[in-house]
Amino acid sequence: MAFDYIDGGAEDERTLRANEAAYSELTWRPRSAVVHPDVELATTVLGQPISMPVILAPVGSSRMFWPRGEAEAAAAAGGAGTIYSLSTLSGTRLEEVREATRGPTWYQLYLCGGRDVGLNAIARAKACGYSALIVTVDTPVAGMRERDVRNGSAQMIARRFPDFVPFLPQLMSRPRWVLDFFRDGAQMSFPNIVLPEGPMPYTDIGAQLAAAAVSWSDIAWIAEAWGGPIVVKGVHTADDARKAVDNGASAVVVSNHGGRQLDGVAPTLHVLPEVLAAVGDQAEVLLDGGIRRGADVAKALALGARAVLVGRAYAYGLAAAGREGVSRAIEILRSELERTLKLLGCPSVHELDASYLGSPSGWPPSGVA
Ligand code: FNR
Repeated sequence: MAFDYIDGGAEDERTLRANEAAYSELTWRPRSAVVHPDVELATTVLGQPISMPVILAPVGSSRMFWPRGEAEAAAAAGGAGTIYSLSTLSGTRLEEVREATRGPTWYQLYLCGGRDVGLNAIARAKACGYSALIVTVDTPVAGMRERDVRNGSAQMIARRFPDFVPFLPQLMSRPRWVLDFFRDGAQMSFPNIVLPEGPMPYTDIGAQLAAAAVSWSDIAWIAEAWGGPIVVKGVHTADDARKAVDNGASAVVVSNHGGRQLDGVAPTLHVLPEVLAAVGDQAEVLLDGGIRRGADVAKALALGARAVLVGRAYAYGLAAAGREGVSRAIEILRSELERTLKLLGCPSVHELDASYLGSPSGWPPSGVA
């Protein structure tokens, strides 16, 4: 259940696969006989220096993969000198996550429970030092993740007896996970969504998301309440990128939620040139979706992204080995990015551009980025 929750996507998982496949469409045009013993990976995002252009994306329910999962992942991100993004739909209090890391943190806001509940989370995030607010705009309802349905995730999470009984063998086949989960307090609520009666329990998350859908008019009051930089995540078109900027976004994330929402949308790498052209220098343009290797990071940067976010690439590490697993996942991406730059003969992530890219399939059109 936990593996499929991380690994799976919506419906036929076409977009999930397309996100990954898009990186294979681009080939490299390296500069040979060029030696750069030290390549530069460090950059800044929204004025924040980070050690490499890779940020941990918001991944909900990380406490289901590993005890205090959100705090452990944040600690690993901080240790590696990069940003951790905390999802509203998390099992660990946002203050505890903030305390776990020396690095910067962003808070990803869903308006579950309504505006007042959202304002409470915004105030808490501001008070304890989150440096940017991500507003995810591609979840007017939850995508249909069919693996979760097959695994009975909703029945088990909501402890709907006797509906979950057929799925119990899954738990029995993973005694270590069950033990860890119960030792960690069997967290079944969202402590950052505080309703009048207390933290929101793990009920029907789909219904909660539908009730919490944001529209452009919400972004303006969110920006005012927050008073700091806003990152709009879930932009697929030039039009929406412009709307995000017009409504006060300092950065946009070209994202299709890792293929977990509307199946059939284009891979993010394909959409990136269109969004860059629409936004110009009015906001920073980030991208996520399908990044599994350092070379994928380099390709997104060569097409013009300022930095990327990774979801599954670190979530697998968290589920396998907690904080150490996330640190290892980040180090793999870092060493691959570094080696790619050296093999390309490119001295810095800031000098990656489309001249390093070739495309046997004719995409992207020459001259982009
Ligand atoms: C996500 N993502 C996500 N995004 C968000 O804004 N809020 C959330 O709560 C979650 N939850 C979540 C759970 C899991 C298990 C995954 C894999 C993803 C989407 C995430 O932030 C990011 O957009 C994608 O993960 C990027 O695609 P890759 O890197 O996973 O291919």
